[in-house]
Amino acid sequence: MGKQAISKVCVTGGAGYLGSWLVKKLLEKGYTVHATLRNLEDKEKVGLLKSLPGADTKLVLFKADMYNPNEFKQAIQGCEFVFHVATPQQTGSDSTQSSQEIVEAAISAVRSIAEFCIQSQSVKRLIYTASVMASSPLTKDGFNIQSCVNESYWTPINVTLTHGLEFMRAYTISKTLAEKEALSYNDNPDGKLEVVTLPCGLVGGETLLSFVPLSVEVMFSQLIGKLPTFKGLELLEELLGSIPILHIEDVCDAHIFCMEKPSIRGRFICAAANPTIREIATYFRQNYPQFQITEEFMGEEKKGIACDSSKLVKMGFEYKHDMKKILDDSVICGRRLGAIFLN
Ligand SMILES: NC(=O)c1ccc[n+]([C@@H]2O[C@H](COP(=O)([O-])OP(=O)(O)OC[C@H]3O[C@@H](n4cnc5c(N)ncnc54)[C@H](OP(=O)(O)O)[C@@H]3O)[C@@H](O)[C@H]2O)c1
Repeated sequence: MGKQAISKVCVTGGAGYLGSWLVKKLLEKGYTVHATLRNLEDKEKVGLLKSLPGADTKLVLFKADMYNPNEFKQAIQGCEFVFHVATPQQTGSDSTQSSQEIVEAAISAVRSIAEFCIQSQSVKRLIYTASVMASSPLTKDGFNIQSCVNESYWTPINVTLTHGLEFMRAYTISKTLAEKEALSYNDNPDGKLEVVTLPCGLVGGETLLSFVPLSVEVMFSQLIGKLPTFKGLELLEELLGSIPILHIEDVCDAHIFCMEKPSIRGRFICAAANPTIREIATYFRQNYPQFQITEEFMGEEKKGIACDSSKLVKMGFEYKHDMKKILDDSVICGRRLGAIFLN
């Protein structure tokens, strides 16, 4: 399909870590992008997006908040593809929301966005940025798994998790229920709207933002000995038996790959490598010996469980970046932005 045929696309959460990188790539490819953010008065976020090459003629910004999902309607109208990247959060300025509120906001925003896609009569496909945290084979009796995690697994909502912080567990539930809601639109009787969900591993690498994104900080949390973000790694390993990871370039390329396919729908896990916490720590110890990673941050010695990302690969997608590149680029990002001090 040529660019003339798919000229206008919408990216919700266009000023976030993944969103801004995706908007940059889409503009580079010549698409017209409708990007949403919550505050059009935010000079830093608006300035970043407007400074992207091609933004002066091909980027239109819309204000839209998931707590008022009608606001997405205008941004979606006239687009052929919608990337739903935004997710409600409980960190920073959003900390006033309860876990229940963020879960409900995530689900109802997906529902509204899917409905607007259908009503628009222009949207062919909705691509939802999901998380592998929604595909855990964990049950209350432990792992219920044949050999590796694949698209058939869904994190049970009532499973007891011992790791992570409260907001991370709420995030896990919100991503699970929102992804199910998105996929349910593939069962619509008219079936015109195609829905793709991409449960993505932990994303690392560089950023366009002026600060280190949370997932990148989680990626190098062992190096800087930061317990709150390290808890994110522990929760991932508890849910999945390893840390599925991928590079920011690959995650955005996977989204665009799913857009450019003539027809595709369903759930596709995105992960380029599946190291355990201990394997990441060992890599850091060997390659960044200036750092002292204490035993507390080393993780357990165990055989990891792989996340099977072959379904997307069988469709023709190729990962360009391996574990080394993901971890090294995350460290470069942390150093550049002053979050990692190397002696
Ligand atoms: N990074 C990862 O490792 C990773 C892994 C798997 C899946 N994902 C998924 O990828 C997506 C982007 O994550 P990210 O890492 O790029 O996080 P991020 O930088 O924190 O971006 C989150 C985005 O969500 C938007 N948002 C938050 N609350 C909102 C609300 N109430 N209404 C509308 N928009 C709201 C933010 O918009 P504003 O700019 O307006 O604040 C921001 O653009 C999320 O869906 C996340 O679940 C990320």
